[in-house]
Amino acid sequence: MDAQSKEMRDDTNIVYGFKLGLLVSCLKIVAMLLVSAAISYFVFCDYGSLVVSVGFAVISAVFLIPMFVSYEKQVTSQGQRIVNLQQHMIRTIADVIEERDASTGGHIARTADLVEMLLVGMSKLPKYSFLTPANIEKIKNAAPLHDVGKIKIPDNVLNKPGKLTVVEYEVMKKHSEFGADLILRSIKNVEDKKYFSIAYNIALFHHERYDGKGYPTGISGEQIPLEARVMALADVYDALVSPRVYKEPFPKSKAIEIIKEGRGTQFDPELTDIFINCISSRTDM
Ligand SMILES: [Fe+2]
Repeated sequence: MDAQSKEMRDDTNIVYGFKLGLLVSCLKIVAMLLVSAAISYFVFCDYGSLVVSVGFAVISAVFLIPMFVSYEKQVTSQGQRIVNLQQHMIRTIADVIEERDASTGGHIARTADLVEMLLVGMSKLPKYSFLTPANIEKIKNAAPLHDVGKIKIPDNVLNKPGKLTVVEYEVMKKHSEFGADLILRSIKNVEDKKYFSIAYNIALFHHERYDGKGYPTGISGEQIPLEARVMALADVYDALVSPRVYKEPFPKSKAIEIIKEGRGTQFDPELTDIFINCISSRTDM
């Protein structure tokens, strides 16, 4: 398991652990009062203390448990407001990128859906059980920022109606580092540090290859963060089935064949299998 996956699993455990800890604390108070009542009755035959202790236990249960539920709702609702704000900001940034890049209409929304599809497929395996709906949502929401660095690529390269020269391609490749830098400077102060880290990894590493022949760093295998390996599959598949200035869209069957050819070289072999399995059963992608 790579470090990012481990962190996601740890985060999920922390949230569950916190909620469980709070509930257990409430139950402990009630249990202590009941034990006190039992001691009063069986050891000291003190019926007065028994009645008082049981009374306190019942009152505590009546007040503490609803307090726990209410507190949890408040925390969830505050968290949701922050998430909504972040999502709005991210959607705006993603829209600006898409408007600039004339060749990729709808690419951002479609790749986010493909990322979600693959993550849901992965989450069914015990190995990826840390991919809870909340973690999947987080990665899906970070996916639209994968090409945010294209905002710094000159128009004559970004929208060139034809094949890029070697020099132009080197300029275009810079978009992953530009994107990571932009994310570092613009959203590093958001409340959700995990989201920032996922968005950063996706922007920087989504053109890395499993065999280490990608860019910008040339890392390989599971050194590449999981979310970037997922993004790579979604990004390439959508580019294959979509029209570009230099090509017609490939039929789905041809796109799947090309993805298969990249299994273990361009793409994570296990994720490739899951991706092909998922995409083959979809009629809308
Ligand atoms: Fe890219």
